[in-house]
Amino acid sequence: MSENYKSFRDLCVTRRQIENCSFSHWYPLFKAYTPKTEIIKPVPKEFVQYLEQDGIMLPSEQHTSSFYTGPIEENEENEYSDWEEEEHNSSDLDDYNDEEDKKPQNPKLDPVVDFPEFHDKLKGMLEKLGAVAPKLNWSAPQDATWILPNNSMKCTEVNELYLILNASNYIMHDLQYAFDDCQDNDNKMENPTFELILRKWFDINPALEFRVFVKDKQIVGVSQRDLNYYDYLKPLSDTFKDLIDEFVEDIVIPKFPDDSLVLDIYIPRPFDKIFLIDINPFAKKTDPLMFSWNELITKEQNEENDYELRLVLKNNTGRFACKEHSENQVPDDVVQASLDPNSIRELAEKWKELLAMQDKDEK
Ligand SMILES: Nc1ncnc2c1ncn2[C@@H]1O[C@H](COP(=O)(O)OP(=O)(O)OP(=O)(O)O)[C@@H](O)[C@H]1O
Ligand SMILES: [Mg+2]
Repeated sequence: MSENYKSFRDLCVTRRQIENCSFSHWYPLFKAYTPKTEIIKPVPKEFVQYLEQDGIMLPSEQHTSSFYTGPIEENEENEYSDWEEEEHNSSDLDDYNDEEDKKPQNPKLDPVVDFPEFHDKLKGMLEKLGAVAPKLNWSAPQDATWILPNNSMKCTEVNELYLILNASNYIMHDLQYAFDDCQDNDNKMENPTFELILRKWFDINPALEFRVFVKDKQIVGVSQRDLNYYDYLKPLSDTFKDLIDEFVEDIVIPKFPDDSLVLDIYIPRPFDKIFLIDINPFAKKTDPLMFSWNELITKEQNEENDYELRLVLKNNTGRFACKEHSENQVPDDVVQASLDPNSIRELAEKWKELLAMQDKDEK
């Protein structure tokens, strides 16, 4: 067995540590380093229920124009007249619809009826901030970008906020499982106070985002956050490390209540300032990116405080070749169907044709 072998040590995390990483806890400490943000805390419980629902009803407001609730303009792409002929043959679909009708359906919440003041507040904030990147206490809906036409988290109208937050499993994690892995978790404890974070949108170059692992007040590793190869990063390593050292030692460690944490930072050109994007718990639920948790936990402290800034050095290797969060995303056809209920019929027809072809091939 290698002499360097170190046994895997468990990593414990407390509710307090998780709470210290919720946006509204750390933001006041580092406001000067964080892009402009509005925090709405607490949010009404009806809003939480609205996000937890399976599917949502968008508010249909008079005198308000929305891409999502306005009338559908007929054009070649959404001309469905040819489907009507097939309607009588599609018995499978009719059966399916019958089944659906039999299920008891809970009436869906409607923002205009169930949380009108909060709904208006959100609209006002969007007017003030312009486009935003939303998140709750800990997580952003990075797994649900497929539901918006721009395929990003950029929300410019209130319906986009509702759609992306409702469609995201990461948001559901915040609402239902935030303290699940805590050693002192007790199911009888109250839910956290939920908060909605609206960060003014700015175009981030993902190549210049880094994750910094701090253990017992020392940096034990820094990883590129977007795991693609960018040839210009390597020569800039020392510049990045100098900025990171100064930021973590002088600004973050003296103010943050825990000795171990994981920072997400952004270093835009001309590489003279760091923006703080997020603080995460030093815990297994935080993605170690190019490190492994075992490696980070067992790192020996050294006198020089030296650590590795790990970069992707080749194009498309292993996990780095896949698109981040893609495991939580769905095909484009399904996205189209989710935006326009009529398309679900076309999707079902295509699916039937494919199955029939497959059947024929197998015979
Ligand atoms: N103001 C902003 N404008 C545009 N994009 C942003 C903004 N703030 C953050 N982002 C993008 O959103 C990404 C995710 O944000 P954030 O790190 O807050 O999410 P998270 O859910 O905490 O992620 P993780 O689970 O990896 O910790 C960032 O990496 C950044 O690229
Ligand atoms: Mg985070």
